[in-house]
Amino acid sequence: MTSPLRIGIAGLGTVGAAVARIVVEQGEALASRCGRPLVLAAVSSRDHAKDRGVSLEGAVWFPDLVKLARSASIDVFVELIGGEGDPARAAVSAALGRALPVVTANKALLAHHGVELALMAEEQRVSLNFEGAVAGGIPIIKALREGLAANKLARVYGILNGTCNYILTTMEASGRKFADVLAEAQRLGYAEADPTFDIGGMDTAHKLALLAAVAFGNAPALDGIHVEGIARITPHDIVFAREFGFRIKLLGVATRSDGGIELRVHPAMVPLGTPLADVDGVYNAVVAEGDLVGKSVYEGRGAGAGPTASAVISDILDIARGQQLSTFGTPAVKLKRPVIVPMGDHLGPCYLRFTVIDRPGVIAVISRCLADQAISIESMLQRSRAPGEAVPVVFITHEAREAELAKALQAIVAAGVVTEEPCMIRMERF
Ligand SMILES: NC(=O)c1ccc[n+]([C@@H]2O[C@H](COP(=O)([O-])OP(=O)(O)OC[C@H]3O[C@@H](n4cnc5c(N)ncnc54)[C@H](OP(=O)(O)O)[C@@H]3O)[C@@H](O)[C@H]2O)c1
Repeated sequence: MTSPLRIGIAGLGTVGAAVARIVVEQGEALASRCGRPLVLAAVSSRDHAKDRGVSLEGAVWFPDLVKLARSASIDVFVELIGGEGDPARAAVSAALGRALPVVTANKALLAHHGVELALMAEEQRVSLNFEGAVAGGIPIIKALREGLAANKLARVYGILNGTCNYILTTMEASGRKFADVLAEAQRLGYAEADPTFDIGGMDTAHKLALLAAVAFGNAPALDGIHVEGIARITPHDIVFAREFGFRIKLLGVATRSDGGIELRVHPAMVPLGTPLADVDGVYNAVVAEGDLVGKSVYEGRGAGAGPTASAVISDILDIARGQQLSTFGTPAVKLKRPVIVPMGDHLGPCYLRFTVIDRPGVIAVISRCLADQAISIESMLQRSRAPGEAVPVVFITHEAREAELAKALQAIVAAGVVTEEPCMIRMERF
């Protein structure tokens, strides 16, 4: 009989408790898939007394997760605490330092310290797996690292944050404002009490940094990502988008070109009829474009106890089988910081919404500021006329460079014809 894999879980919250429950309650089925019994040997969390909805009998309790990571009583350390710094970082380093394989769902930790930790794992010849960190239940890291390994990938992009997708989908269905829908999402548990990371785009940026690292074989480059959130999207934008044949989604987009890698997170107009346009609610989706496979699309639940635990367990099973791959699919010593294409060089059509006082000459001023930067207009829409009052006016540009767009917008604001900051939403050609 093969020796059991003794699992130590740090963090018994949403994901950790679900992983513990699956290991305890579905041990036999899991053992038959990896050829080896799995045992929940030890756990650590802050509150020993809290009911986790699973029997933890037989698992040794460690009040200190770093001590759990150093314990000789486990064969794999599963970090489900979260946060880029300590104690998660100290515990993962301690485990890798003593050649213990690690599974984590912690995107912040890996986006900030991924290379350092992958180097430790490689030196010790152990796995550092993170399937649960990106797009929850969608096995996208496996897909990129293993299934598409023969391809040169040119672009990876997707909807990577379920909270934002839920908010945008609900705004569209109900016609309600961002703040109302966010408050409802918080009540329903779809958004955190502090939603800054989600709605500000940083959660998507963490995931994009990891996706791009695996797709292009570079170090995660979080600080090279242009990040914008969804807080400025209005019901007007959503209605206008539909009229032009688009839906608005918060996207993470990583593109490789001869000049380097472009990394951006922002709300985007996605053409109706393309795979990402139909991804609704808390779902996530990722599209990868490879030279051999062409376009492949992956969709599923991007967060929550079950989907994330599904990903974490698959990483544990790989370790039980003795499979060991480079963390990012490329040997850690070869992970270099990529050359980042500046956002000012981004080229694409754009949706521009201005709130203007409805009076003669305003549209001419805006058109002139755009023309001064050689930005040509594809179409313009003014929904309602209310002389003397503020109304939204929308311009769709032809392909334009971001640096020129920024100058044009500055000039328009300086001309005093708008009553609030212009809203710019990039239009994608997928
Ligand atoms: N939730 C999701 O849908 C999801 C999806 C993908 C990835 N992830 C990632 O998975 C990880 C865990 O997320 P989660 O949603 O399960 O978080 P969570 O529900 O907040 O649980 C965090 C757990 O960590 C424990 N903890 C926090 N600080 C600790 C400390 N200093 N010492 C010991 N234990 C500590 C907490 O202990 P107590 O319970 O005792 O207070 C809790 O059990 C994060 O990296 C997150 O980004 C989550």
